[in-house]
Amino acid sequence: MNVVLFGPPGVGKGTQGVRLTKDYQLTLLATGDLLRSEVKSGTSLGMKAKAFMDAGGLVPDDVVVGMIESRLVDQGGLLLDGFPRNTAQAEALDRMLASHGQQLDRVVFLCAEQDVLVERLCGRRVCRGCGRGFHLQYDSPKVSDVCDHCGGELYQRDDDHAEVISQRLAVYEEQTAPLASYYEGRTGFYRIDGSASLEQVHAELVRALEG
Ligand code: AP5
Repeated sequence: MNVVLFGPPGVGKGTQGVRLTKDYQLTLLATGDLLRSEVKSGTSLGMKAKAFMDAGGLVPDDVVVGMIESRLVDQGGLLLDGFPRNTAQAEALDRMLASHGQQLDRVVFLCAEQDVLVERLCGRRVCRGCGRGFHLQYDSPKVSDVCDHCGGELYQRDDDHAEVISQRLAVYEEQTAPLASYYEGRTGFYRIDGSASLEQVHAELVRALEG
């Protein structure tokens, strides 16, 4: 099963995506995580992407499409988090899957109001070690600033500061929100309220994936 999870920054794609990939033995391809890893390793791709990410904009399509294409070979089921991000990327994904004799089986649009998104992004903390996300209020670590899972240090993402958040939300409205129209009407398209609790959203996602 190939699944796309899309929606605005902070809606819960990463949190839910990690859990679903375990439940359904899917390979997680999260472009934000892949790009942050390239930045951390100081690769030329990472250097090229960093300026766009720091400014809250999108990394150029050829960079992210190439990154996904090189990972599609011989994968089993996929869960794509953060890709596609605009119509050009969605068309490229359809083409890439078709060239491997595959298709998208589920497209899930997680949505929430802007005030919910801002609160989630401002309160998010991420582990430097294992990358797990926490929230100061809704999913807080047992010990302040320490990851429950690996003991790593928790930090605030550079793009989770107020000015960058508003830019990311504006870019989402302009470039990513139109994907709802691109996918609506396809078999396997679901719209889920991402502002519900972690457990409620998970239950709705399971319902969608079970079809
Ligand atoms: P990326 O990392 O993909 O960022 P994003 O899409 O903006 O999404 P986030 O990771 O911010 O949010 P999320 O929906 O995963 O929320 P989370 O689960 O963490 O991309 C970063 C950058 O990379 C982009 O800005 C762009 O520059 C570049 N990029 C990436 N992909 C690209 C592409 N395809 N093309 C071009 N550029 C690309 O949850 C947020 C917080 O809320 C957490 O603290 C969590 O604990 C909490 N939370 C989650 N769910 C709930 C709930 N139900 N109730 C209460 N709290 C919750």
